[in-house]
Amino acid sequence: MIQFWFLWLFIAIVVVIVAFTLRKEREDMPRTDILRAVESSAGSMGLAEKAFLWAFSWLDTRFRIQDYWGMSRDSYHHMHRQMPLTHAEKYKLRIIWYWYPLYCLGGISFLAFVILVISGTVLGLYYVPGGDGTPSPAYLSMEFIMVELPFGYIMRSIHHWGTHFMVASVFLHMCRVYFTGAYRNPRELNWLIGVSLMFFTIFFGYSGYLLPWDSLAFGAATIGINMANSTPLIGSWVAKAMFAGTTLSAQTVVRMYFLHVFILPVIVTALILAHLFIVWVQGIAEPH
Ligand code: HEM
Repeated sequence: MIQFWFLWLFIAIVVVIVAFTLRKEREDMPRTDILRAVESSAGSMGLAEKAFLWAFSWLDTRFRIQDYWGMSRDSYHHMHRQMPLTHAEKYKLRIIWYWYPLYCLGGISFLAFVILVISGTVLGLYYVPGGDGTPSPAYLSMEFIMVELPFGYIMRSIHHWGTHFMVASVFLHMCRVYFTGAYRNPRELNWLIGVSLMFFTIFFGYSGYLLPWDSLAFGAATIGINMANSTPLIGSWVAKAMFAGTTLSAQTVVRMYFLHVFILPVIVTALILAHLFIVWVQGIAEPH
């Protein structure tokens, strides 16, 4: 529980530091003068209104909320102007084809990823990445999450099933893109980004599968390291990079943990943002 409060304390400290460093208050118009000016034009204000206005002007002088709010409103309208008409709008269709819901699969993959990040963050507060001894600290921490931590088994189940859901939806999304011919010119780049996303999604699942360091994980790790070692030329390098050596050891689980909670999230988040940005710019392909 203590880690939970530390996390929030850390977030609060970062927010306060950012707030104080981002922007200096304008001295020529102190907040009390602003409040007085608003009051004289709008009549006297209640305590709640005053508090709201004070908090808002405090935040606005630092984060330029009004400017950014205006910018995002403009880009929202702009976006809607440049978005192409949907298939149904363009051809004035009155029916909904049975395959239209399949266009949701990319969004479903994204939703699964968000759920995985949230549930994974909670699991990360209690998981211990240690492979030494039998049972290992990693295994014992999983046992703690499953048996003792309130709602721990639910969090782990959400993370577990979320992974299955994401792998399935990413694969089906790829099938949808293929069968509607959406990978063609001008969307080749997004197809290639998608291929790497498919790979990284599977690797994400694999690295997480090893983390409990139980016999299932050990079996999967044995298969993985044998595959890596038997790869020509780069085999031992791949084994060292992925499994922290050419044989399994206590370090393997630490390496998998690092890949699972740092390297892969950074890569996949960047790729998803690029992928969605390109979809936003290019619009959804018309079915051929
Ligand atoms: C983490 C995985 C992925 C996420 C979150 C994601 C997300 C999305 C979203 C939200 C869209 C908008 C249209 C739709 O939802 O169908 C889209 C379109 C697209 N995706 Fe993905 N995607 C992923 C993986 C893939 C994969 C594996 C491929 C192919 C190898 C792919 C290729 C494409 C292409 C070419 C488009 C444009 C389709 C069109 O214009 O109709 N994506 N993606």
